[in-house]
Amino acid sequence: MSFETIAWQDGKVKMLNQLLLPAEIRYEVYDEFHQVAEAIRKMVIRGAPAIGIAAAMGIAQGAITLPNERTAFLQGLEHINQIMAQTRPTAVNLFWAIDRMKRLVERQIDTLSISDLKDRLVQEAQTILREDIELNRRIGEHGARFVRNGDTILTHCNAGALATGGYGTATAVMRIAAEQGKTIRVLADETRPYLQGARLTAWELMQDGIDVELITDNMAGHFLKSGEVDLCIVGTDRTAANGDVANKIGTYMVALAAHANDIPFYVAAPTSSIDLSLANGDSIPIEERSAEEVTRIGNTPIAPHGARARHVAFDVTPARYVTAIITENGIASPPYPFTLAPLVQHNNK
Ligand code: MRU
Repeated sequence: MSFETIAWQDGKVKMLNQLLLPAEIRYEVYDEFHQVAEAIRKMVIRGAPAIGIAAAMGIAQGAITLPNERTAFLQGLEHINQIMAQTRPTAVNLFWAIDRMKRLVERQIDTLSISDLKDRLVQEAQTILREDIELNRRIGEHGARFVRNGDTILTHCNAGALATGGYGTATAVMRIAAEQGKTIRVLADETRPYLQGARLTAWELMQDGIDVELITDNMAGHFLKSGEVDLCIVGTDRTAANGDVANKIGTYMVALAAHANDIPFYVAAPTSSIDLSLANGDSIPIEERSAEEVTRIGNTPIAPHGARARHVAFDVTPARYVTAIITENGIASPPYPFTLAPLVQHNNK
């Protein structure tokens, strides 16, 4: 991979500006945690795992500027955590990363000086990034068994290196299958309105030499019915304990069409995207973004001036349409209420 999604650089957070891709490859360098929070909110960086990594780095960056007096430090950290938590509501990796940073402080506050604790927070944010890249490879290794030589894979949105620390989740499965010598072809949904498929997935798969063809979202049903697609693989922003999967808007329609045509529908999910505290997908918070992102493409209006619009950014695919969930700790198959939790709890062993 020839690009880095996010990196920690001497107290600064560097990220590839995904708002500008593929027209321009520009790295932003932020030296203040409010800027990192704003970058997450504006989607300079996006994708559930990448949002979590950015938040952890933002927290570390904010923490090092806090006073070394215990009460002031803890109050300041709480404030930073709150700012991060308000950036985007659906991806549970954001809250997972905030919790992980908080737990580190709770565990060490009585034994370390505040100054040492700050160093630990900086290390932890970098560990989260490193672990994410490693676990994505494991997702790919587990998932590649579902891909046969010559398969065509349909994907929606971008669950790629750009959405993670590197390598991707759904794209890790594609990358490992390709590394194993399998010839694969990918159909990438353009993913209106933000065009993650067109701008990001097509771009990053082309960089890797993986055969990718772009389709508009409304072509997915046609291709799934035509017999051209062998399997679907998507990512997730939050998967509930029963296997209901929140992912980019439009995923549900892909899953329905896959089900109607007996095509397997796989979800690639790091365990940090699985929220066992939610029994099902009904209570997953669904982000609603600016209607302008629907009435315009970039700066070009595509609707009458003053047209009202809605921009629901995610939907929930019921577990019954999900063939399997591929995690770094192995594969969960239905019934998910029994198979998902052990894979998540595996991390606490
Ligand atoms: O709004 P986005 O671009 O942050 O949404 C991203 C997605 O829906 C991805 O499919 C999901 O985060 C999984 S990324 C491994």
